[in-house]
Amino acid sequence: MLLDQQYLFAPGPTPIPDRVKAAMNQPMIAHRSQEFPTLLEDVATRLMPVFGSENPVTVLAGSGTSALEAAAANVIEENDEIVVVVAGAFGDRFASICETFGANVHRLNIEWGAACKPEQLEEFLQSIPKEIKAVFATYCETSTGVLNPIKDLGEVVKKVTNALYIVDGVSCIGAVPVDMKGWNIDILVSGSQKALMLPPGLAFVAMNDTAREVIRNCKAKRFYLDLNRYLASYETDKSTPFTPAVSLIYGAQEVCRMLEEEGFENVIKRHLLLKEMVREGLKAIEIPLLTSDEDASPTVTAVRTIDEPSKQIKKLLKDKFAITVGGGQKKLKGEIFRIGHMGYCTPFDVIKVLGSIEMTLKFLEGKDVLGIAVKRAEEVWMEHV
Ligand SMILES: Cc1ncc(COP(=O)(O)O)c(C=O)c1O
Repeated sequence: MLLDQQYLFAPGPTPIPDRVKAAMNQPMIAHRSQEFPTLLEDVATRLMPVFGSENPVTVLAGSGTSALEAAAANVIEENDEIVVVVAGAFGDRFASICETFGANVHRLNIEWGAACKPEQLEEFLQSIPKEIKAVFATYCETSTGVLNPIKDLGEVVKKVTNALYIVDGVSCIGAVPVDMKGWNIDILVSGSQKALMLPPGLAFVAMNDTAREVIRNCKAKRFYLDLNRYLASYETDKSTPFTPAVSLIYGAQEVCRMLEEEGFENVIKRHLLLKEMVREGLKAIEIPLLTSDEDASPTVTAVRTIDEPSKQIKKLLKDKFAITVGGGQKKLKGEIFRIGHMGYCTPFDVIKVLGSIEMTLKFLEGKDVLGIAVKRAEEVWMEHV
């Protein structure tokens, strides 16, 4: 095998397009130079349709968790009542962050592998007799491959409470539709290394005017992640309060160009096709999936590993075919593996990963599945060409 041919199907980080790598190689510029404000403004505004935001998107240097933390640190004051939808490891992380900032966190626990239904959230919110400051939810719960119905949940939040609605879109923004105003989202956060086709290191926070007002008045202590500093620096100088990750921002500019060239509607359709190909292919070889078609994310698919040989799929995919997939997290460790199909991913890539899974199953279990998943995925693809 050519050792430099490695195939990344983890649900983040994801492959980087060559032209994005080239863009990141541009000569360094000083962030207090004349050039930087033009670059930052270009990226912050071109990301607006991708985030469904009416305001420019704030860019932080940090991983996705820094954006989650920023959302919590700038809104939560000691003993605020906060609701978090916990449908997997990342909802759980959001809840832990809120607890760290002194909130009274009410966790709405959803079975891992299922999406939160609006009725579940409505009933839960109605059962809390106190004023709720914010409701946090995860758009794509990466640990289970579930896409929560963020629009419908937002309707419930605004019907039942006066709370802010804060959404973690780390593993799907750039691949799915979103409309902050229409869906009642006040803060939407994301990271660079998933559907946005960049290396890890940038975090994004989109805030509406209501959220900005709450953040302005929030008395909680914070420094590096104080969003007021970022908003003020952008407002006055189109800059950032601290040294930005300039090269990654150049990369983000190229990503915006790519999304515009393909057309964001087509990007969304491509991800729906990738999801259908993966799911239909795996169903054809009778591999159990963790989520229903209805709840499944277009960016990541969780596959059950039910018997001893199947638990070795992840290792064999890597050893024999240089394919990296994700494992299970927390209570799903050893129970599933996860295929990321987001960002710089095409139907041909899906054929590659499905073919490798077929061969791996043949190795492990002697199952005669060669060509079956691939054939089914090709049939799905042909319906769309
Ligand atoms: C939904 C979700 N939220 C938050 C994070 C955390 O992002 P990071 O690992 O970049 O800090 C991830 C990372 O996988 C994620 O998938």
